[in-house]
Amino acid sequence: MSKFPNDFLWGASTSAYQVEGAWDTDGKGPSVQDVKEIPAGTTDFKVASDHYHRYEEDVKLFKELGMKAYRFSISWSRVMPNGVVNPEGLAFYQKLIDLLLENEIQPVVTVFHFDLPVYIAEQGGWENRETIQAFADYCQVLFEHFGDKVPLWQTINEQNVMALAGSVIGTSQKSMKEKFQENHHMLVAQALVTKQFHAGNFTGKIGPAPNIASVYPASDKPEDQMAALYMSALRNWLFLDVAVFGKYNHNAWHLLETIGAAPEVTAEDRQILLDGTCDYIALNYYNTMTVSSYYQKENKIDQQSGFGIPGFFQAVENKNLPMTEFGWPIDPEGFRFTLNEVYSRYRLPILITENGIGAKDVLTEDGQVHDQYRIDYLQQHIAQMELAVKDGVEVIGYCPWSAIDLISTHEGITKRYGFIYVNRTEDDLLDLARVKKDSFYWYQQVIAQNGLGE
Ligand code: BG6
Repeated sequence: MSKFPNDFLWGASTSAYQVEGAWDTDGKGPSVQDVKEIPAGTTDFKVASDHYHRYEEDVKLFKELGMKAYRFSISWSRVMPNGVVNPEGLAFYQKLIDLLLENEIQPVVTVFHFDLPVYIAEQGGWENRETIQAFADYCQVLFEHFGDKVPLWQTINEQNVMALAGSVIGTSQKSMKEKFQENHHMLVAQALVTKQFHAGNFTGKIGPAPNIASVYPASDKPEDQMAALYMSALRNWLFLDVAVFGKYNHNAWHLLETIGAAPEVTAEDRQILLDGTCDYIALNYYNTMTVSSYYQKENKIDQQSGFGIPGFFQAVENKNLPMTEFGWPIDPEGFRFTLNEVYSRYRLPILITENGIGAKDVLTEDGQVHDQYRIDYLQQHIAQMELAVKDGVEVIGYCPWSAIDLISTHEGITKRYGFIYVNRTEDDLLDLARVKKDSFYWYQQVIAQNGLGE
């Protein structure tokens, strides 16, 4: 007997700027991802996987894979390149959503995934309060067009990563004070559009999509427990407490005040946060974190590596965990732990919107990709998700990263995640042909039997 309900949303994910390409086609304006400095040796995002031109072929493959849901993002700068609706941009998503529905694949939409339009960035980006209204206007356009067709919406992808590792993913490079003011405006914007969505009486649900990682104390020392509590407050609960309760987490607030990074919050902001709380939690899980009390240390900053805050905590390596070839820890049991922790705090349904392994996949001469390491990774995580469901956690779906190969945030196309291989390299587009990897056939089975089987 499967542990998963019959309507469990087995799916997979992508994001607009990482998969679409067509960066200036049909009226699309530039986003910060199109103009950022690209790390040496990696490709830019101009063509990506060319999904914009090949979405019909891609959806056909998603159908063959058996996907019940496709989690993707809409590009703000395609839909509203300069504050005014671009009909051709909107038409692309209209066609994509209709095609998914025809194929009985639920569209699961993130409205903002790291790709702020350049014209907004030039006016101060999220630090400028006016961006809140610009975001609300953009979301209103999406709700009016797709509100009846999209059952699950996510407001903002990995807002916590933008606040804590923005310099790596190319969204913002600012002081902590500025970053947490931006962050506050994003939280208000999220609550405002959540309220708007609810006012529209659509049948769907809306929620945030942070990157959540439970935090382990490095030892049984009491100060390490406190360090773990504070890192989790800053990295995880700050974002979810506001989304679910409409209030800042008290530990996170204390930390921000102590380091001089507490944002200015108006009485009106407080009311908006309380009025726009979410219906469910979408979360991305890649690994857990481990921390000790603070000591000075050189940190490698990216989404999944830790950092330190003087007086509060310092991330350390967890020697019990193996690493991916790109240096991210692998912790399937941590997935079960994280799901339980989130559910016991918030008691809301959880949708997994990302989980997966980045690897240097190889296309063999006979046109195959033997990604057994991906099968192992996903198999272990699904097994732990099953245990979390048995524990009593309400998980409504699993959308691993990624449906098809796409460009990594800062490590190019060499770091691949997809079930479908895209034939290109960093500097040569080759034929962009799609090739089903071994993991495609494996996941197809998992979906068909609604889980791993006995
Ligand atoms: C998440 C993002 O941080 O992890 C995705 O939401 C990203 O956009 C994914 O691609 C994997 O990270 P990376 O850096 O390997 O692309």
